[in-house]
Amino acid sequence: MGAERRMRTALVLGGGSEIGLAIVRRLATQGLERVVLAGRDRDAIRLALGPDPLLVDAVDVVAWDALDVASHEPLVARAAELLGSIDVVVCAVGLLGHHAGLSMTATDADLLLRTNFTGPAAALSAVGQALERQGHGTIVVISSVAGARARRSNFVYGSAKAGLDSYAQGLGDALVDTDVRVHIVRPGFVVSKMTTGLDPAPMATTPAVVADAVVAVLDSTTNRIVWVPGRLGPMMGVLRNVPAPLWRRIAGDR
Ligand SMILES: NC(=O)c1ccc[n+]([C@@H]2O[C@H](COP(=O)([O-])OP(=O)(O)OC[C@H]3O[C@@H](n4cnc5c(N)ncnc54)[C@H](OP(=O)(O)O)[C@@H]3O)[C@@H](O)[C@H]2O)c1
Repeated sequence: MGAERRMRTALVLGGGSEIGLAIVRRLATQGLERVVLAGRDRDAIRLALGPDPLLVDAVDVVAWDALDVASHEPLVARAAELLGSIDVVVCAVGLLGHHAGLSMTATDADLLLRTNFTGPAAALSAVGQALERQGHGTIVVISSVAGARARRSNFVYGSAKAGLDSYAQGLGDALVDTDVRVHIVRPGFVVSKMTTGLDPAPMATTPAVVADAVVAVLDSTTNRIVWVPGRLGPMMGVLRNVPAPLWRRIAGDR
């Protein structure tokens, strides 16, 4: 299958995500024809999209909540109806919780875990099955460096991302004999709505840089793991294995 066909249509889960929209804008310069943006607040998604001339007639905004498990299969069916076939699915749902670890109530921790792990994971299960039936497709899962090793300041978010990352790896393996690929993206700190009010971490990047890294692997015929920036990969390879007291010092309150 050619690159053009793969990128003709897209579904974004978490359709108002700045990273998700940056990917869509980038794809729009490369022939994306239609996109479904799925999220909780349709007006807010339209506002986040803005008056993009390349996308203004190409977008459907569909109401969808990642925590409503019963809505996942109908959403994917609706997207297939609107798009014809779904070439790319970007999973960009997320909630950071602004570095609350131990201070979180059980209710807050539960919401963070469901929003970052079980909600999107269940949706990806519906996506994986639909793309397998369809016979082709590319799934992009936005994971995080935070999932590579939990930090005391945000271990709830980090552990949820670790779960989603592991789930996406397994999904990719389960689909390996089909024409469906699963790419996992692990950004470090990205300046976006999600990180408003936080001091940028070292190596902070932007949604546009993440979008460039995603688009660069989109046509890969093998499942890919993409760190953004790229040097985070080897760095975390080392940091994942340093002794806990040293890790706590390096991670600090970040
Ligand atoms: N920004 C970073 O530093 C960073 C770093 C690494 C990874 N990431 C990951 O990148 C992805 C995109 O983040 P971003 O930076 O683009 O932040 P963002 O603009 O805040 O995007 C997150 C999106 O998730 C949506 N969402 C939250 N709960 C939802 C739910 N229950 N159902 C449906 N949608 C829901 C939000 O919608 P609402 O507007 O309705 O809340 C928002 O559109 C996330 O998975 C995030 O964890 C971000």
